[in-house]
Parts: sequence; structure tokens; C-alpha cells
Amino acid sequence: MAAISHEFENQIHAGKTEAGFGCYMSERIKALEPIAKLPRHVAIIMDGNGRWARKHKLSISRGHRQGTETLREIIRHTDDLGIQALSLYAFSTENWNRSAEEVGALMQLILDFFASEIDELDEKNVRILILGDKAGLPEKQRKTLEEAERRTGKNTGLRLNIAVNYGGRAELVKAAREIAELVKAGELAAEDITEETLSDHLYTRGLPDVDLLIRTSGEMRLSNFLLYQNAYAEFVFPEKLWPDFTPEDYDRALAVFGTRDRRFGGREKEA
Ligand code: IPE
Ligand code: IPE
Ligand code: MG
Repeated sequence: MAAISHEFENQIHAGKTEAGFGCYMSERIKALEPIAKLPRHVAIIMDGNGRWARKHKLSISRGHRQGTETLREIIRHTDDLGIQALSLYAFSTENWNRSAEEVGALMQLILDFFASEIDELDEKNVRILILGDKAGLPEKQRKTLEEAERRTGKNTGLRLNIAVNYGGRAELVKAAREIAELVKAGELAAEDITEETLSDHLYTRGLPDVDLLIRTSGEMRLSNFLLYQNAYAEFVFPEKLWPDFTPEDYDRALAVFGTRDRRFGGREKEA
């Protein structure tokens, strides 16, 4: 496949800001379809709720609540597209540093989200997995998340991973400890530890690596999200704040992904 120019990628990005460009853009995206490959695993850092709230002179918790509306739509759209896995960053191990009021609002939203969505997600055959340390959460939230995992555990559709009290470094430390225990117990030799061994001790075990990482709000950093799994991910950074992010913006990010030339350290085959 011929590599598509960065200029074309920029045009796709430009579609989000130029009024009246939408129709033209959907034509361009259609043109991409035969060559665009869908990612197997999409990870999203849902960022910008605070700035959205400030912009609209609303409370931070109102911003987070608006963000859950986007969350619903993006999960639905991912399911409709037939993407295999979606990992969403909802609450990091560092987010405890926010005010008690904001943390409380986010914890309440977790309960509200599952109360309103679990029936539909289960009906749609979505399998939920929580990435992160559930034991470090308040009991109500822990039970709600465990119940969502249990109830959907045998579903075979979209793999929906929600990162709550998640940190990439903490995940790697947990994996290292588990592997060390196996070595200590004589069940594994140190020289037999491979990349697969490590993968098998991550929350995402059994899932493909992240193909596409999207972070909204224009920030360009990982903030401790899926450090190991993002090793060869393609990154797309839409400017839109998370509450303003639409399925069309998501389509554009997917189209950009389709234009990327993934080499994994090798070389493209001669045309
Ligand atoms: C992301 O939005 C949501 C969480 C971190 C839970 P932010 O609250 O980080 O939004 P900004 O970055 O302040 O705009
Ligand atoms: C990352 O966003 C965490 C989530 C989206 C849940 P943050 O807004 O917390 O990250 P920083 O502080 O900008 O790096
Ligand atoms: Mg933020």
C-alpha cells in the first residue's frame, strides 16, 4: 500500500474546524474506505471535561457529567463499527490528587453510568473489564464494577475496558510482583520470562496491543495510560474537548489511522 501524504492527514484533521467541510470530508473518508484498516484495539484518554466546564461557566462535576454523554455515544459507535476492543481512561491513580468534591463527583458518576448503561451493554453482548486497582476504591464503586464484570463476563462482543484507579506504572509493578512470586515458588525460571509472560500479567491479558490511541483536548501525553500496550500504537490528538467529541470526530481519527504507515521497525514491502 502506498503511504498517504501527511498533507492528506492534515486535511482530515482540518475537517473538524472548517464549517461546511463536513460533506467534503465524508467523501474523502469514503474514498479511504477500501484502504483504511480499522484498528483492533482503540484506547481513548477522555480529556477536557474541566476546560469544557470552565468555558461554559459550569461546575466541574457538570463537565464530567457531560463527558459521560460522549462516552455513551462513543461506546455505541465502536460497537456499531465492529471494533474488537475499546479501552477508556476514566480515573487515574493520580486523579486522587484532585479536590474531595471533584473525586466525589467522579465516583458518583461511576455508579450512575453503570446503573443506566449496564442493561443495554449486556444486551449488546459487550464484555466489560475494569483496568486498575478495584481494591483501592470505595466499597460501593468496587461492588458495582465487580458486578458489571461478572454479569458480562461470558459475553463475546465488544471488549470494553474501563480504566478506574489505573496507572500504567502501578500495573507494571503489579506484574513484576506476580512474576517474582512465581519464580520464588519455583514455578517459573527467570530465564523463561518473556514479553508474553509480562503481557499475561497485565490487566489487558489476552487482548491485542493498542493500535490507535486517541487523546482529546489537544494534550499530547500518555499520563500513565497503558504504557506497555501502547508500544507501537498510532497516536491521534484531536483538539476537541471530550464533551464536544462526536462520532464524526471519531470517524476522522479512524480515517487518520487508516492513512498511517505502520512499520513496526521493519520496512514496507516494495510496491
Ligand atoms: C478528564 O477531564 C476526565 C478525568 C480526568 C477524570 P479533565 O477533568 O482532566 O479535564 P481538563 O484537563 O481539566 O480540561
Ligand atoms: C488523564 O487525564 C486521566 C484521565 C483522562 C482519566 P489528566 O487530565 O488527569 O492528565 P494530566 O494531569 O493532564 O496529565
Ligand atoms: Mg485533564
